[in-house]
Amino acid sequence: MKKKEIYTGSSIEIEHVGRSFPVAGGFFEALKDIHVTIPEGKLTILKGRSGSGKTTLLNIIGALDAPTKGKVLIGGQDISGMSEKARDDLRRKQMGFVFQAVSLIPSLNAYQNVEFSLRLAGIREDRKKRVEECLKMVGLGNRMNHMPAEMSGGEQQRVAIARAIAHRPKIILADEPTAELDSAMAAEVTRLLGELTRKEGVTIVMTTHDTGLMDAGDMIIELENGTQAAVTYREDAKAAEGDGLDRAAKDVKDQMQKEKKIHG
Ligand SMILES: Nc1ncnc2c1ncn2[C@@H]1O[C@H](COP(=O)(O)OP(=O)(O)O)[C@@H](O)[C@H]1O
Ligand SMILES: [Mg+2]
Repeated sequence: MKKKEIYTGSSIEIEHVGRSFPVAGGFFEALKDIHVTIPEGKLTILKGRSGSGKTTLLNIIGALDAPTKGKVLIGGQDISGMSEKARDDLRRKQMGFVFQAVSLIPSLNAYQNVEFSLRLAGIREDRKKRVEECLKMVGLGNRMNHMPAEMSGGEQQRVAIARAIAHRPKIILADEPTAELDSAMAAEVTRLLGELTRKEGVTIVMTTHDTGLMDAGDMIIELENGTQAAVTYREDAKAAEGDGLDRAAKDVKDQMQKEKKIHG
C-alpha cells in the first residue's frame, strides 16, 4: 500500500548536504557538508557573499533542486524520498516563495495579485477576507486597489510577501527579497518577515548578502564558499520573554543546546 504523505511540522533538518555541479573538467562543489536544523516558526537568515551557495541551498530546501550528498527533512519527512507529485504538492500548498525581482502581475492591482495566488492554490473559501487580512498584515490595507506601477519597490515587495503567505504555507522561502530595495526599506521588509513568523507561525528562510539586516533574524546561518561558516542565534531571545514570546525564546534556547550537543 502506498504510504500517505503527511506533513506534521515545518522544521527543516539539513543533514550533511552537499551539492556539486558538473563543470568542464570535473565537478564544482557549491555546497559542502551543510548540517543544521532550521527551527519551526522562526525567521532564519542565510547570509553570505555572492557565490557562497545561498540560492543553491534555498532551492534544495524548496525541493526545486536535490542535493548530491545528504538529505533534507521537512517536518521529519525526507523530501528526496517523495514522489514527484508529492513534492509538487508540498511546494504548492505548504510553501510560499518570494524572489529578488518582484514578480507581480502588472495588469492586476494589489488585491487581485494576492487573490490570484489563492486561486492557484485552489482555495475558494473566504478569499476576500484572507486577501484583505494579508494586505493589512504587510501594512497595505489602504493600497489594495493600487496597481504595481503605482507603488514603490518596498510596497511591491510587501504585496509579493502578502501573496506568498495568503494560502497559509508552513514555510516561506525568500531569495534576496531586499536586494533591490534601499537600506531603510530592506530593514523594514526584513522586520516584517520576522513579524509574520510571530503572527502566523510560519517558518521563514531568507537569503541576503547584506550584513546590515541580521538583527531581525532569530537564527543566522553564514555560508562561505559553500561551507557552513557559522550558526548564530539572536542574543535577545531573552528580550522576547517580556512580550509573551517566552515560548519562542525557550525554543531558541532548546535549539542552542541541541546544536551544542551535535556540534560540540
Ligand atoms: N547549475 C550550476 N552549474 C554550475 N555551477 C553552479 C550552478 N549553480 C550554481 N553554481 C555555482 O555555485 C556557486 C554558488 O551559487 P549560488 O548558490 O547561486 O550562490 P549565491 O546565491 O550565494 O550567490 C557559484 O559559484 C555558482 O557559480
Ligand atoms: Mg543567490
